[in-house]
Amino acid sequence: MEKYIINGGNRLCGSVEIQTAKNSVLPILAATVLTDDRVRIINAPDITDVKNMVKILSCLGCRAEYEGNDIVVDSSGADCCEIPMELAHELRSSVFLLGSVISRFHKAKIAYPGGCDIGLRPVDLHLTGLKRLGVEITEENGYIVCECEKLRGNEIMLDCPSVGATENIMLAAVKAEGVTVIKNAAREPEIEDLQRLLNCMGAKVKGAGSSSVTIEGVNTLYGCDYLPISDRIEAGTFLIAAAMCGGELQLSRANAENISSLLHKLRENGCKIHVNGDKIYLENHRRLTSVKSIETQPYPGFPTDLQAQYTALCCICRGQSIVTENLFETRFKYVPELRKMGADITVINRNAFVRGVERFKGAAVVAHDLRGGAALVSAALAAEGRSEVLDISHIDRGYGSLEYKLRELGGDIARVSV
Ligand code: EPZ
Repeated sequence: MEKYIINGGNRLCGSVEIQTAKNSVLPILAATVLTDDRVRIINAPDITDVKNMVKILSCLGCRAEYEGNDIVVDSSGADCCEIPMELAHELRSSVFLLGSVISRFHKAKIAYPGGCDIGLRPVDLHLTGLKRLGVEITEENGYIVCECEKLRGNEIMLDCPSVGATENIMLAAVKAEGVTVIKNAAREPEIEDLQRLLNCMGAKVKGAGSSSVTIEGVNTLYGCDYLPISDRIEAGTFLIAAAMCGGELQLSRANAENISSLLHKLRENGCKIHVNGDKIYLENHRRLTSVKSIETQPYPGFPTDLQAQYTALCCICRGQSIVTENLFETRFKYVPELRKMGADITVINRNAFVRGVERFKGAAVVAHDLRGGAALVSAALAAEGRSEVLDISHIDRGYGSLEYKLRELGGDIARVSV
């Protein structure tokens, strides 16, 4: 087990290059199973979720290896269609593999990816969509077992714009017979990125980014080299941390359009923000003013993956805020930890009621999930005094070299083994 020791109070000044997007690279890794050619994912992020996905691909018989910062996958030797339970539980997004494994093997078996720290995380929309493409699905002692003579295109209406379900159906449909239309599809930038990758491999996908995605099945997909989009959630996390600590931050390889909802809020809070191409510049030297209400919504609304980090910012603003989490049932597990640091915050159902305090006080806190852990790091950096953030393996799932990047900006943070 490892923890961060953080001495708060330093401003964050300097520049950070944003990693490629975790939530793009994971479905893109799943897509590599769809071809016997080599696929190179350029500049993959150095994070545990990606490493675990690489392990799962190896379990399927793929050759998946790091070459410098790239990941090269050769699935020509893939000979197994069962995703091991321990890895499926370790990595919820392994469920994305269902679509591509079924497409390759016409069968698949995966342990039911249980709920996690942010909610029930059901997969009913994934399974309903796959059934619409002709997949027979049974669930037996904790496993989802899929069989399919032939995948056939169909029209699928999603009850809610699920990111994972949209991606899973796209992966199953690219080599199905006929045309598939996904209605009420999720519109996240990572879905457009998956469409670009698939079309790079010879697929015929269009409409990603809108609520209707059309996939015309093809017979064969080919290898390619692909650079995924940058991680909008990492970018947002750094912007919020700099806003909380005060300072002057420049992000490079960032995409302001993909986090425009956050940039509007930070400007409302009183931050100065300029955008120039793939650079985002944030400056703040004073206590921020609260925004009255924030509601997480599917893209392009305020991202649920920035809810925890932004709520931590609300805790030290002048004024009160109400943060509403509309996507996941229990995405406030970090709140008791912020209260240990002096936050005045009460959660009732899906709402967090925040009264701003002058500053956080350093404390020993525990990360319970990826984004909640990132929120605690930002709070500790802005706090008065010393903090410890325990169980940072959650944070390592999605942020590569976090302490290194923060130290480069002037943050006083060190990783130690417990
Ligand atoms: C993706 O998860 C992201 N993960 C999540 O990021 C992100 O929070 C989420 O999309 C929402 O943007 C990856 O891309 C790897 P959903 P996913 O299906 O696909 C309900 C992070 O921190 N739902 O869009 O699992 C679900 O309960 C992670 O990087 C069903 O009801 O999210 C939730 O309320 C956390 N049935 C809502 O949809 C289903 O079959 C959105 O979930 C699927 C989902």
